[in-house]
Amino acid sequence: MASPTVDHAAVYDLPADHPGVSDLAYRARRAAIAEVGRRHRRGQPIPDVEYTPAEDEVWRVVSHELARKHERYACRAYREGAAAVTLPTERVPQLREVDARVHGLTGFHIEPVPGLVPTREFYGSLAERVFRSTQYIRHHSVPFYTPEPDIVHEIIGHANMLGNPVFADLYELAGQASLRSRSDAALDFFSRVFWFTIEFGVVWEDGELRTYGAGLLSSYGEIEVFRDAEIRPWDIVAMGSLDYDITRYQPVLFAAESFDRVVDELSSFFAGYDDEDHARRLAAAGR
Ligand SMILES: [Fe+2]
Repeated sequence: MASPTVDHAAVYDLPADHPGVSDLAYRARRAAIAEVGRRHRRGQPIPDVEYTPAEDEVWRVVSHELARKHERYACRAYREGAAAVTLPTERVPQLREVDARVHGLTGFHIEPVPGLVPTREFYGSLAERVFRSTQYIRHHSVPFYTPEPDIVHEIIGHANMLGNPVFADLYELAGQASLRSRSDAALDFFSRVFWFTIEFGVVWEDGELRTYGAGLLSSYGEIEVFRDAEIRPWDIVAMGSLDYDITRYQPVLFAAESFDRVVDELSSFFAGYDDEDHARRLAAAGR
């Protein structure tokens, strides 16, 4: 997941509301795991992290609960991706094995990073079919909540999607669009569309609202209540112009009337997006 304001010096700091902020053993553990990502260089094998029994237990609890909820709330294309990736459910997966699995399915690589990656770097990697993932796991005291992307979000949310070639191609197109967004305003608009689709997108499927958004698919609480959000019709300019708050459940979501429409419209948006397209879209919408 990307953050617009992160610099690498802050990677090992935790925000005051992080459940592990006063747990020094957790912080040391998180830093040691982050260090594996910091040292990794592209093309080299991804070193394994030795997860503790407590960390494996967090994964076991969360992945079982989310798998149940995905049956009811996840769109078909995500469930197909997850079925193809077949993540372990009893222990935290190693990025090495997730990378091998996803790469074999769609050619996407999963690459470890020590924490949040600067926005342009994170999106730019997608153009090379590389998804950059944290490896540390949320604090055990609240297994169903994390204020930052952890391995649950990255792998259950994103890597499962990347097991489906349809999503893999969308992610790559998104990366290419980010590289053509030279102005900060164009990148900001692109990031918001990414947020309201790849992270929090919802779609009508067989008369029910389901999600293809990694943020919802990896959120134990929010996935149960997203149908209560204000559901607005699919509209690229509206998505690209709306502010959002990452610290709370999303009060507004945008629904496509079919998954085919998600793929068609998002592909053509990403494929044609650059600074000029951004300006044209705003002018056409009178903004
Ligand atoms: Fe994400």
